[in-house]
Amino acid sequence: QKRRPFVLANWKINMEPREVGPYLEKVLPALADEHQVEVGIAAQDLYLSQMLAAAKGNPLTIVGENAHWEDAGAFTGETSPKALAQMGVEYVLIGHFERRKFFNETDETVNLKTLAALRNGLKPIVDLDEDLSAYGNLVPEKVVLAQLKAALDGVMADEMDQVTIAYEPTWAIGSGEAASADQAQEAAALIRQSLANLYGRDLAEKIRILYGGSVTPANGQNFLCQPDIDGILVGKAALNPEKFLALVDEAR
Ligand code: G3H
Repeated sequence: QKRRPFVLANWKINMEPREVGPYLEKVLPALADEHQVEVGIAAQDLYLSQMLAAAKGNPLTIVGENAHWEDAGAFTGETSPKALAQMGVEYVLIGHFERRKFFNETDETVNLKTLAALRNGLKPIVDLDEDLSAYGNLVPEKVVLAQLKAALDGVMADEMDQVTIAYEPTWAIGSGEAASADQAQEAAALIRQSLANLYGRDLAEKIRILYGGSVTPANGQNFLCQPDIDGILVGKAALNPEKFLALVDEAR
């Protein structure tokens, strides 16, 4: 089964307003005619309009970093998934480790947000980590699978082609210590097996699973060549446009 590789930058709340334009000016020309690799940047909401306008007609996907589980209403400071979709945003990160850790997101809210994204035509990139704190004595791989199952509760088989999974072991995020390619492949294979248990093997083979956590141009290829890893979610290294492009090149 051939799955199109996905190289996704996550700027988090890095990047100053004055840096956004120059970054895109460096990246967009290098992506002209890109069709092998799907290339995306997740950015804070403030920058999305500018980025969508700049990326229009170019093979660069603009991704939201979070969306609320309600479409509209009295939720000051939140991001409406409906509005994101109407703006032309295609994907949204759901349940990133930092959202779970610093903003109290739980399996339940991650599930609600996944359903809200799908309901609004946004493709959720569901993040799984290995944070053991909320799971008593479960071993790490069981935590990942529990998160997966909870996030997808109520997601129908015919919606699953909209879903991407990202596996980011907590200890590898921003630490400079990436998982080994074997560890990441093993986790991705477990996730795919679990997807097969939930939705059948055929569907599971179509779903992309990304690895994230201290990916750099020096180690990116190790992950990208694994059979169950279909892309990378890159934080720090992707703040540098040259490094980001080097990673896109590795995925070709
Ligand atoms: O979403 C991206 C991840 O949290 C990875 O961040 O590449 O800085 O470790 P990092």
